[in-house]
Amino acid sequence: MNMTRKVGIIGMGNVGAAAAHYIVASGFADELVLIDKNEAKVKADALDFEDAMANLLHHTEITVNDYAALADADVVISALGNIKLQDNAGDDRFAELPFTRVEVRAVAEKIKASGFHGKLVVITNPVDVITSIYQEVTGLPKNHVIGTGTLLDSARMKRAVASRLGLDPRSVTGYNLGEHGNSQFTAWSTVRVLGKPVTEIAAARGLDLAELDHEAKVGGHTVFRGKKYTNYGVSTSAVKLAVAIMSNSLTEMPVSNFREEYGIYLSYPAVVGNDGVVEQLQLDLTPEELEKLQASADFIKQKYAESKE
Ligand code: 2OP
Repeated sequence: MNMTRKVGIIGMGNVGAAAAHYIVASGFADELVLIDKNEAKVKADALDFEDAMANLLHHTEITVNDYAALADADVVISALGNIKLQDNAGDDRFAELPFTRVEVRAVAEKIKASGFHGKLVVITNPVDVITSIYQEVTGLPKNHVIGTGTLLDSARMKRAVASRLGLDPRSVTGYNLGEHGNSQFTAWSTVRVLGKPVTEIAAARGLDLAELDHEAKVGGHTVFRGKKYTNYGVSTSAVKLAVAIMSNSLTEMPVSNFREEYGIYLSYPAVVGNDGVVEQLQLDLTPEELEKLQASADFIKQKYAESKE
């Protein structure tokens, strides 16, 4: 781990740019490598960030479109995507797969060729399958390739629960599990708020858990309908994950990680530190939750198999 904190961001669209801005404004990295096919745009992004430097407390050295510069990066964030394919009738994140699986294989080869030996944080959708592809093509250890997964959906669940109770979302703990997509679910047995399991207070507080589960699951689609993309929620998840790695914070969080018992990447809580996923949790889920998780895992596995055809 070198002393200077170095992050690469591949894909400087709405999501990558939001992640880059969060990193520069917060001083989370000393060096930032920005990569995008649109050379004019990424050079303008770099210049735009230089314009911010005079008014920031921390300096970030910015390089653009140089895969070789990733060789000693601590973390690379994959934020590439296809905004047109995201806009589909079924609100299906797998609609991007025909595009992203091709792009990602090419990018992963370049990352591998650069000699990168850090941790890969994957936002690109469908994130569970794309994280698998990145791991396979780069050959990085499975615990060094991590998808943001339901870290974002769990944040949406916390927002929904907290909004009903007049609380800050950080007052809610617990997880959405499985696919970062339509087969995910809120594991209510893991959710606590006001010092109690939410299942114990739901009736008294008028919480409709089915409604809240749905609100979390479709949260991304709700935002998408208003602005035709999402970026702040997902980029914040990715940067939280990147900072946990760089600072070795050993934070427990629901991220897309390779789970042997399912043989795929899906979102399940893990402890994240400098060595990526350093410990995987084993939750005491209810039989119904285990069934939902198996169904989500089966769905991801089926879509992954299709992606190889
Ligand atoms: C989201 O749910 C982009 O999949 C991401 O916002």
